[in-house]
Amino acid sequence: MKQVLVTGGAGYIGTHTCVELLARGYTPVVVDNFVNSSPAALDRVRRLTNHELRSYEADVRDTARITEILKKHDCEAVIHFAGLKAVGDSVARPLDYYSANVIGTHSLLSAMMEAGTGRFVFSSSATVYGEPEFLPYTESHRLSPTNPYGQTKLSVELMLKDLVESGGMTDVAILRYFNPIGAHASGEIGEDPHGVPNNLMPFVAQVAVGRRPALNVFGNDYDTPDGTGVRDYLHVVDLARAHVLALERFEREPGAITVNLGTGHGTSVLELVSAFEAASGRKVPINFGPRRCGDIAAFWADPSQAEALLGWRAEYGLADMCRDQWAWQSQNPNGFELA
Ligand SMILES: NC(=O)c1ccc[n+]([C@@H]2O[C@H](COP(=O)([O-])OP(=O)(O)OC[C@H]3O[C@@H](n4cnc5c(N)ncnc54)[C@H](O)[C@@H]3O)[C@@H](O)[C@H]2O)c1
Repeated sequence: MKQVLVTGGAGYIGTHTCVELLARGYTPVVVDNFVNSSPAALDRVRRLTNHELRSYEADVRDTARITEILKKHDCEAVIHFAGLKAVGDSVARPLDYYSANVIGTHSLLSAMMEAGTGRFVFSSSATVYGEPEFLPYTESHRLSPTNPYGQTKLSVELMLKDLVESGGMTDVAILRYFNPIGAHASGEIGEDPHGVPNNLMPFVAQVAVGRRPALNVFGNDYDTPDGTGVRDYLHVVDLARAHVLALERFEREPGAITVNLGTGHGTSVLELVSAFEAASGRKVPINFGPRRCGDIAAFWADPSQAEALLGWRAEYGLADMCRDQWAWQSQNPNGFELA
C-alpha cells in the first residue's frame, strides 16, 4: 500500500486527485484545515470511490502534527495543494499568503525531513511567469510574477531548488498549472468557492444556475481575437492525473522536474461563455467593465515537457470541461454543504 499525504485534499484539485490516486492503487491520507473547503467534499470522495479515506483537520504550519501523521501512515510521498490561491486577495493581505504558502511549505518540508518522507509534488502556477516575453510559455521563460500570490509560488520553487541542490531531497515535481476548470463527470465533486468566485468558470456556472444575475467581464479591448482575455483552460481530471504520473515517474526515474500543465491552446472569455451556454442550454448575460489592474491579456502553455517527462497530455476538450462543470453545478446549485 503506497500511502501519500495529500495536503489541501478537501479542495477543488485535491478531491479530484484523491479519486485518481485511489484508482491507481495509491492510498491518500488527507490533511486540510478547511479554510476554503468542507469535510462534506471528502464524504463525496468516499461515496464516489467506495473507499475509506483517512483525513485529519490540521494546518500544514503545525510541523509536529504533520510529522506525527507522516510517521503514523508511513507516507512515501506528499502532494502539496494546501495554500491560499486568490490573486486579488493576495494583494490585499500579502502576509496571510506568505504565511500559508511559504511558511506552510517550509513547515511541511521540515516535517518530511523529520519523518524521512522523500518525495514531493508541488502545486505551482503559471502566475510565476508574469508578463509574457513570448508565447506559449515554456518552462525556461523568465520568472517574474506580478502579484504576491505568484511571488509566494516562486519563493517555494526557489526553496525547493535549494533543497534539491543541498541533497536534502531528490524527488521533487514542480507542476505549473494553467487554468483548471470542469469537474468529475459524475457531478459528485467540483469547485465550491466560498463567497464570490474569483475565477471565471465558477462565476459563469453560478450565473447559469441562477445564483448570480450576470457575468462581469473585465476588459473587451485587449489585443486578442475578440478583445477579451485568453487563458489555457484544462480539465481538472486531466490535471489530477498528472499528479499520479509524477509519483509513477519517481518510481522509475528519481530526480527533480518542473513542467507546465495546460492544453497548449488559448480560449477567450467569450469563447468559454459560448461553449458553456451550449453545454448547459442556459443563457449567461454579460456586463462588460474596464480592465482589471495587473491582468495579462493572453497566455497559454507549451505542455511538451509534461508529455516528454510524464507521458501526460490533456485528453479533454472545452466542451467536456463545460459539460462536467454543468453536471456539478446543476446537481449542486449551492455547493457541498447545502446540496
Ligand atoms: N485552481 C487554480 O486555478 C490553480 C491554479 C494554479 C495553482 N493552483 C494551486 O493549486 C493548489 C490547490 O488549488 P485548489 O484550486 O484546489 O484550491 P482550494 O482552495 O480548493 O484547495 C486548497 C485547500 O487547502 C486548504 N488549506 C489552505 N491553507 C491550508 C493550511 N494552512 N493548512 C491546511 N490546509 C490548508 C484549503 O482548506 C483547501 O481545501 C493551491 O496551492 C493553488 O495555489 C490552483
